[in-house]
Amino acid sequence: MTDGLRKGLASYGDAGFSLFLRKAFIKAMGYSDDALDRPIVGITNTYSDYNPCHGNAPQIIEAAKRGVMHSGAMPFVFPTISIAESFTHPTSMYLRNLMAMDTEEMVRAQPMDAVIVIGGCDKTLPAQIMAAVSADLPTVVIPVGPMVVGHHKGEVLGACTDCRRLWAKYRAGEIDDREIEAVNGRLAPSVGTCMVMGTASTMACITETLGLSLPMSATIPAPHAERFRLAEASGRVAAQMAKTRGPKPSELLTKSSFRNAQAVLQAIGGSTNGLIHLTAIAHRTPHRIDLDAFDRLGRDVPVLVDLKPSGEHYMEHFHHAGGVPRLMAQLGDLIDLDARTIEGKTLREVVAGAEAVPGQTAIRPRQNPIKPEGGLAVLRGNLAPRGALIKHSAATAGLLQHTGRAVVFESVGDMTLRVDDPALDVTADDVLVLRNAGPKGAPGMPEAGYLPIPKKLLRAGVKDMVRISDARMSGTAFGTIVLHITPESAVGGPLALVRTGDMIRLDVAKRSIALLVDEAELKRRQAALKPQPPPEGADRGYAWLFNEAILQADEGCDFDFLRRQGKG
Ligand code: FES
Repeated sequence: MTDGLRKGLASYGDAGFSLFLRKAFIKAMGYSDDALDRPIVGITNTYSDYNPCHGNAPQIIEAAKRGVMHSGAMPFVFPTISIAESFTHPTSMYLRNLMAMDTEEMVRAQPMDAVIVIGGCDKTLPAQIMAAVSADLPTVVIPVGPMVVGHHKGEVLGACTDCRRLWAKYRAGEIDDREIEAVNGRLAPSVGTCMVMGTASTMACITETLGLSLPMSATIPAPHAERFRLAEASGRVAAQMAKTRGPKPSELLTKSSFRNAQAVLQAIGGSTNGLIHLTAIAHRTPHRIDLDAFDRLGRDVPVLVDLKPSGEHYMEHFHHAGGVPRLMAQLGDLIDLDARTIEGKTLREVVAGAEAVPGQTAIRPRQNPIKPEGGLAVLRGNLAPRGALIKHSAATAGLLQHTGRAVVFESVGDMTLRVDDPALDVTADDVLVLRNAGPKGAPGMPEAGYLPIPKKLLRAGVKDMVRISDARMSGTAFGTIVLHITPESAVGGPLALVRTGDMIRLDVAKRSIALLVDEAELKRRQAALKPQPPPEGADRGYAWLFNEAILQADEGCDFDFLRRQGKG
């Protein structure tokens, strides 16, 4: 039934010889014919000494191998790129598509009947899923899981929402060198991904909702024994999928499953990056994410999960409250429960098995939401003809309708140089504008959209300001921050036309972001705009490929040649 070792033979012009040679070499590892005759489950190893978020990957792999072998199949572990947020220059997003290409091509090139992909740190789950979707082999995803929480002076801490909050306090002079050093050792107390509702947690919840991983896989803490039992169970499921050759991602990723994922993204107060990644995954299928439909969905779907940065708790609390199955149970008719999972079950069966935890406060009922609307809103207007995004669940309510004077920074470098300059002409009512920080302009769309509040305002007690850019923002951050302005300024988007002193109006209720400059003047500025030269180093190699092929945020920032022609 399966192809096992016979699959995808190296081409020597004689299939019999190719198989003979393959077996001769792999026997050097000590395998028996019995082992080599079994269905094969490939397992991606995304462990790296540079990636503490994936520090438990070796144990996950061991457990998954156990599950595969208990079910009569043969596991083969192979390495793929690993990307850690704080260890990749210029930004992890720059490398997501490279990782997706690596995994896709290695899954295609090597013999396997099913594959287990392991990911977690922000870009790795989307990259692995994009790859799996394009290779369309039966796939089980195992997220590495979130860290456990840290503690400091009686306070619960979490990376990286509290990294930013406490760093801002340090910048404001509210805590000293000694304390910030102590905090530095307590923010990430275990291996695993950031334990707030950042991009890693968001993508793990989306993966579980899409049916690509087992129930509870998003939330079990990374160091817990339960995480490794889940990995073993995932191995068993993958072995079964290898034998029956399904279900494949193309059978699981339907219009309904994408809609479910969008509903969960809204209900968890998920990361803005989640929408880019979900869009990129959809672009690998015949389906598409419609930004306006996503926004409309957000008006119906409340934020129910009380996690930082929108709420109070952390991932382990979400887990102990029943995790994604309990959330989907609370969402009720907002989820299409006929959607299917890797086990061949429906979400209805998953929801029926959801644990009810008396007295838990991490997952709210629909009658008592954290926010009556979803976490993310899509903005449009003359500044963002193809859309922009705001996580209004983590913004300051009083700034959601605001008109202010633009203070423009030309690039991330310019902002770094000038934002803390005591001579900078800026007040708390101004709108900080950052440009040339988009997919092509930066390049790689860094998480620079969380512009720091100028030090002199911080010291005067200012906690939030309206900030707008074509950059992304860490899902762990909070504030009144408009992101992903599309098209980006480096390709001539209207953000390139803003001048310091112009007035900008944000109106989240009306889903609008507007530059209050008359049309004729904007046309004059557009005509005078000079095309951006390619970034340094983009004359060859991956930088060239990136610059040539990167798509805008509304298309998921995939490479144009990797997406599939969709239904539109
Ligand atoms: Fe890896 Fe946050 S840095 S998930």
